[in-house]
Amino acid sequence: MTQTPVIPSEKLFAQVLDPTSRADPYPLYARLRQTPVSLQEDGTYVVSTYREINLLLHDPRISSDERKSAHPARTLDTPGGPNPPAFIFTDPPLHTLLRRQIMQQFTPQRIGGMQEHIEQAVNALLDARKQQHQFDLVQDFAYPLPVTIICRLLGVPTEDEPRFRGWSSALVRTLDPTESLSEAEKQHAVQSHTQLIAYMKQLSETRRAHPQDDLFSALVVGDSPDGRLSEPDLLATMVLLLIAGHETTVNLITNSMLALLRHPEVFERLRRNPDLAIATVEEMLRYDPPVQFRTRTTLADISIAGVSIPKGARVALLLASGSHDPARFVDPDRFWPEREENEHLGFGGSDHYCVGAPLARREGVVAVKALARRLQAPRLVTDPPPYRKNAALRGPEHLQIAFEHLNE
Ligand code: HEM
Repeated sequence: MTQTPVIPSEKLFAQVLDPTSRADPYPLYARLRQTPVSLQEDGTYVVSTYREINLLLHDPRISSDERKSAHPARTLDTPGGPNPPAFIFTDPPLHTLLRRQIMQQFTPQRIGGMQEHIEQAVNALLDARKQQHQFDLVQDFAYPLPVTIICRLLGVPTEDEPRFRGWSSALVRTLDPTESLSEAEKQHAVQSHTQLIAYMKQLSETRRAHPQDDLFSALVVGDSPDGRLSEPDLLATMVLLLIAGHETTVNLITNSMLALLRHPEVFERLRRNPDLAIATVEEMLRYDPPVQFRTRTTLADISIAGVSIPKGARVALLLASGSHDPARFVDPDRFWPEREENEHLGFGGSDHYCVGAPLARREGVVAVKALARRLQAPRLVTDPPPYRKNAALRGPEHLQIAFEHLNE
């Protein structure tokens, strides 16, 4: 008989980061929650309970600025010199100003206006599989969709989309602090970043001369009361919008289908009532969220849950664990779209709450609705599927789904 190894609590986070835990880190989170704030072997303070994560998300003594950290995440410098950090990696007052300028452009009208484009893109991706009885949901559907949509929102011409897809894939890999990239991969990422910045610069000049009805033109023309974004900040923001919304949305769609196919009774309820897609996507953001954790740095000594976190420490906020905390959610390990109360941490919280949440929800709902309606008798080919290495932006690398045929 094999015995389950007992992992000491200060090694649990290393175990979460280990690729062998990727398919199901939730039992490790349950063990971490026994100590709401725990010091790990590598010096990281892991925060795993809902209440404590929420307190720290709202605490001004916690910084998102990697420059204040002794363990900064990888940054990419283009040959022209260092780039300013994207606003996700800044603190007030700079963060407040940059975020406000972006939020002014993420209006309900602009995001609502994307509905038709999302439906068209979703159906076009599915129509391309009409002759097939099996496809890889990740490569053939979930991966291309968010790039198409973000390009449309920003105002990137359709013919340039394939280049964007390549740049985004190369850059997304650099976001994983646990992945060691080869020299060739690092060079490819730097090259992609340089090309993307050069492309955006060119596009900003074109849009300044001939503004169109898109987000990029609105930011370039800059009629906000706060003034216009500087060019380096504008470019850093564009890169952020492209990569922050890519892998995350891919994983939202993929995790949703994985959970639905593992829970045929929920899938059946969704088929009978397509409007359940809204609650299904919301439940996914809690039950198996694309962003599992975010890291921060303490700007002062902080006392929380009986632990003293010193100034300058690295803190990991385990959002996915908080969203499974039984002290906050009824039956937290159950996939249950109809749950009455679902204030999950899937989009973070407080000052850095996800800017793209309304767009991501819309993409997720349209995709899940269409997949449930159009795939006839779908089933998983491999369960569990293979996962990408990234522990923070966690999701399957492939998800093979077999089906009888595609409905119109
Ligand atoms: C399912 C898809 C998505 C998930 C799960 C997600 C999740 C998150 C989370 C957890 C944060 C908080 C980060 C922190 O506290 O450090 C965040 C921030 C952010 N997200 Fe998303 N996101 C998604 C899609 C998008 C999309 C589509 C966009 C853009 C179009 C986007 C843009 C951003 C930006 C710009 C920030 C930084 C906000 C700030 O620092 O003030 N996200 N997202």
